[in-house]
Amino acid sequence: MASSSRVFVLLLLIIFNFLYISAQKTIKHKPFSMSFPLISTSLSHNSSSKALFLSSFMASNNRRQTQNTKTMSRIPSLNYKSTFKYSMALIVTLPIGTPPQNQQMVLDTGSQLSWIQCHKKIPKRPPPTTSFDPSLSSTFSVLPCTHPLCKPRIPDFTLPTTCDQNRLCHYSYFYADGTLAEGNLVREKITFSRSQSTPPLILGCATESEDAEGILGMNLGRFSFASQAKVQKFSYCVPIRQGSHAVKPSGTFYLGQNPNSHTFQYINLLTFPQSQRMPNLDPLAFTVGMVGIKIGGKKLNISGRVFRPNAGGSGQTIIDSGTEYTFLVEEAYNKVREEIVRLVGPRLKKGYVYGGALDMCFDNRPIEIGRLIGDMTLQFENGVDILINKERMLDEVEGGIHCVGIGRSESLGIASNIIGNFHQQNLWVEFDMRNRRVGFGKGECSRQV
Ligand SMILES: *[C@@H]1O[C@H](CO)[C@@H](O)[C@H](O)[C@H]1NC(C)=O
Ligand SMILES: *[C@@H]1O[C@H](CO)[C@@H](O)[C@H](O)[C@H]1NC(C)=O
Repeated sequence: MASSSRVFVLLLLIIFNFLYISAQKTIKHKPFSMSFPLISTSLSHNSSSKALFLSSFMASNNRRQTQNTKTMSRIPSLNYKSTFKYSMALIVTLPIGTPPQNQQMVLDTGSQLSWIQCHKKIPKRPPPTTSFDPSLSSTFSVLPCTHPLCKPRIPDFTLPTTCDQNRLCHYSYFYADGTLAEGNLVREKITFSRSQSTPPLILGCATESEDAEGILGMNLGRFSFASQAKVQKFSYCVPIRQGSHAVKPSGTFYLGQNPNSHTFQYINLLTFPQSQRMPNLDPLAFTVGMVGIKIGGKKLNISGRVFRPNAGGSGQTIIDSGTEYTFLVEEAYNKVREEIVRLVGPRLKKGYVYGGALDMCFDNRPIEIGRLIGDMTLQFENGVDILINKERMLDEVEGGIHCVGIGRSESLGIASNIIGNFHQQNLWVEFDMRNRRVGFGKGECSRQV
């Protein structure tokens, strides 16, 4: 009797084991996919200082790249990051640490290293605080000075780091306005669920900063979130912006497979080998082959050459979720402006420039002006288009004043074309690192919750 029940239990165990293994197999075959709400929100004015901080990395990077030509004063990216980057940001909330603490982060396909706001030495805001408390996480660790990333010269970028008295990798940086930002480089996991978490990732942990949000760096660099977490692709759908209303419509952010991807059209990324690096080129950005612009059905007379990097790297066209508006190099911008002037010239607000960059602005009547301008199409290789509906040609920048969401790259001190998040509304954008391509698909982003 006893032995037969033992056999029965054994049999049950074998059956369970078999079921368990086949269940695991089916899970394994299903591609990794995880989605999060994505909101589009205006950041506090003080976030521009964070932007400047990030720019210091690009600046030092550029300095490194140009140092053999001894042109230390040429820092093309500095202004770019400080003006429109992050002013209207895409925010995703990720569960960081063990147990997870939800952290709001700015989704940025244009930068590399991710940052979280760690517990402030002197909490400036009353609880509940939005910053991350390292003491509550069992998987948090700090990066020692001996780590290669803490060395002053490493291949990808240069951090303004020092080794502090505790032998920890410490960064500190003075903003243009004299305020100090500092923190440590740390390692921490993103814990999606009990069974799914990333390995410990290298992050910046800001201890002195006014900003509530961190940054999720998603470019092609080896220290970006996507690279460190070994995410092979990610995608997002930017919700339609609805002024300054309290309730923000929610879009979607996917890590891994997107169930809508069968509807996407793809263009290959332009890649740049190490040997081909040029001073004005950001080789870690998502660079695509843009070929032209249409306004109101009319193809503008712009040479496709201005959308591709030249010998010095000027002219690359990047898809950047962390920049608000679209910026075009001089030759392309002039042709766009010429056409806008032809269509609605007498309505232009004379002498008005918003933020030093947007100079095609109007007083009131945005719907009528949008209708006069018509739809805009950004054209890419393989016949892939991004259609900007006439209702979304203009953005209200301040009380009743609306501007075309396109600026001159030169006004930001950069030499690239940037497609900003304003022109990615109601659009699926997929970044497929494994196949080195970017996909676009029509989306109804505000309803994807
Ligand atoms: C922004 O920064 C200034 C000082 O630079 C500070 O007085 C102000 O309180 C900050 N605003 C916010 C919303 O943090
Ligand atoms: C297109 O632009 C080029 C240079 O800007 C000019 O030489 C050419 O005449 C233009 N073509 C037309 C059809 O306007």
